[in-house]
Amino acid sequence: MRRPILSIVYAIAAAALSCASAHAETVATVSSPNGVLTVGLDLHEGRAGYRVERFGEPLIDTSALGFMLRGSGKFERNLALADKATRSFDETWEQPWGEDRFIRNHYNELRATLTETIAPNRTFNVVFRVYDDGIGFRYEFPEQSAAAELIIDDELTEFALAGPATAWWIPAGEWNRYEYLYNRTPLNEVTTAHTPMTVRTDDGLHIAFHEAALADYAGMWLRRAEGRRFRAELAPASEGWKVRRTLPFNTPWRTLQIADSAAALYESSDLILNLNEPNKLGDVSWFTPSKYVGIWWSLHLEQESWATGKKHGATTANTKRYIDFAAEHGFRGVLVEGWNPGWDGQWFGNGYDFDFTRATPDFDIEALAAYAKSRDVHLIGHHETGCAVSHYEDQMADAFAINERLGIDVVKTGYVCDAGGIERRLPDGSIAREWHDGQWSAGHHQRVLEAAARHHVAINSHEPIKDTGLRRTYPNWVSREGARGMEYGAWGNPTNPPEHEVNLVFTRMLSGPMDYTPGILSLQGRGQAIQTTLAKQLALYVVLYSPVQMAADLPENYEKHMDAFQFIRDVPADWARTEVVNGEVGDYVTFARKDRNSDDWYLGSITDGNGRVLEVPLSFLDPGRNYTAQVYRDGDGAHWHDAPFAFERETRAVTSADRLTLRLAAGGGQAIRFVAGSAAVP
Ligand code: NOJ
Ligand code: CA
Repeated sequence: MRRPILSIVYAIAAAALSCASAHAETVATVSSPNGVLTVGLDLHEGRAGYRVERFGEPLIDTSALGFMLRGSGKFERNLALADKATRSFDETWEQPWGEDRFIRNHYNELRATLTETIAPNRTFNVVFRVYDDGIGFRYEFPEQSAAAELIIDDELTEFALAGPATAWWIPAGEWNRYEYLYNRTPLNEVTTAHTPMTVRTDDGLHIAFHEAALADYAGMWLRRAEGRRFRAELAPASEGWKVRRTLPFNTPWRTLQIADSAAALYESSDLILNLNEPNKLGDVSWFTPSKYVGIWWSLHLEQESWATGKKHGATTANTKRYIDFAAEHGFRGVLVEGWNPGWDGQWFGNGYDFDFTRATPDFDIEALAAYAKSRDVHLIGHHETGCAVSHYEDQMADAFAINERLGIDVVKTGYVCDAGGIERRLPDGSIAREWHDGQWSAGHHQRVLEAAARHHVAINSHEPIKDTGLRRTYPNWVSREGARGMEYGAWGNPTNPPEHEVNLVFTRMLSGPMDYTPGILSLQGRGQAIQTTLAKQLALYVVLYSPVQMAADLPENYEKHMDAFQFIRDVPADWARTEVVNGEVGDYVTFARKDRNSDDWYLGSITDGNGRVLEVPLSFLDPGRNYTAQVYRDGDGAHWHDAPFAFERETRAVTSADRLTLRLAAGGGQAIRFVAGSAAVP
């Protein structure tokens, strides 16, 4: 019997449909130690994807894995699972310095080998490490006959969030590097974002997307492709591709921190450190976490200048004044900017005049280093490159040797120019322009760290590549900028608004320490007010972590606020333990941290433009101890705009059984030192 034509059409359509909707096959899964998070690796017609579930509910929908390669096109099809293996890991390691002395690294791992079923039969492994509060995955390219080298035009890795969410993000690929105010938008209004990008789902789950161990590779931007689906876009390289590597190599880890609350999200940042390699430098006790003052704010106020001449800040006499101030008040470091030739004229984006081995004639570096030593103070070096980066690399070994001889054991570096303006000398002598977060810049920072480490110098980079936890491997990479810092309070247009720091805590600060340079107790920039209360400036020392922490205001301004200044003198820069007591992204946050060198605890609490009352149980304090709480709080009627100087200092006796009510003014904050007393509480 002849089949009616219509039924043949139906049969063809059905075959096409079943083909199109053929379910992806889950070829491997791995769950976190407590089973809350599960990652599935799927293959669908030879294409690989991963998905994430939390308590069995979809969190990340199937998201692609793969690469776009120069010459051979996509490396993402015709894949088959060649091998898989799982393992568990649980170890606690000690940080030489940090927010916590001990960090637990506890995960289950899946390593899956995916091989092309057609020529050239290339292979990569995808490795997932699944923690109870996050996931990291990376690609490993083992040695193979199919490829000796890869030229990566882009990564095809996707991140498809399963449900609607609000995002906190800054734009990537724009001229001002990472120095943007944070946007708060629905997730599907993000364009291309830097990481960490933080989202809160409509169900209240907090997720931060970032990366760990970014070395010899391009930084990852997140480009929204459609709806809630993002794709990795790698920072450009001057050659036109993104990354060029010989095999074997591993990519950085792509990370998702996943937590119920904003506070737990911050605490899940251990993931970034855990995914980095252990310390390669060995004993780094030559680095001392500490606070510093310096010839800096006066430059940004234009009261003094980097350039030589009448207004030159970095003179011998002026530096002595800062050394004396540091010695008198217990600061270890004195930063001096403008100490070297190269600042006269237009230095922005023109770093070829910078000399890092000689001082200007009015700055007697030998005598000042000796004077500093006699007063138990160390000069802090400053290497502003103006983005002439190869020119800097030519000099850095000599410069670090001089630093070491003079007791200058911390150097602040700088890369002031627009994004994409980093100058790299090619072998033929011509200059190529690179991005601050491209593969070449990643390599540059590593060369700096290694050269500095050879001379026991620690690095604090401004206009850096983003932090991805490499401080675990190179503990001399102690801090960096990489966001809008206090300098925007001097001249920013617009300046940093009251919510800026609470945005930073749950975005930028998830990546690592920041040299924010707080403590402007004068609350005054260049013709504009700083948009915080006085007490909030103090709280920032506890809230924004850095092992080198500046007291950024002028000595004469501190003389006018000695009561508040006492907290800046007391607060440590190194911690045994950190607890996030409460917080909401972009709204407020309270930190409690225990000093690494005493039994004292410190608390810092800050809010955005809204005043609020927070109840804080003191259960973080060691039980069975008496403490004297030295409270530095917003005074009655304080307000960042109307009454920023309204401020109270008071003391009271407390134990871990007490609760405190913190009253934060609009744009305000509170700082408390809990001085440990006798051990016996009845
Ligand atoms: C920008 C840095 O962030 C700032 O701290 C420094 O003073 C200037 N560059 C000059 O190097
Ligand atoms: Ca800067």
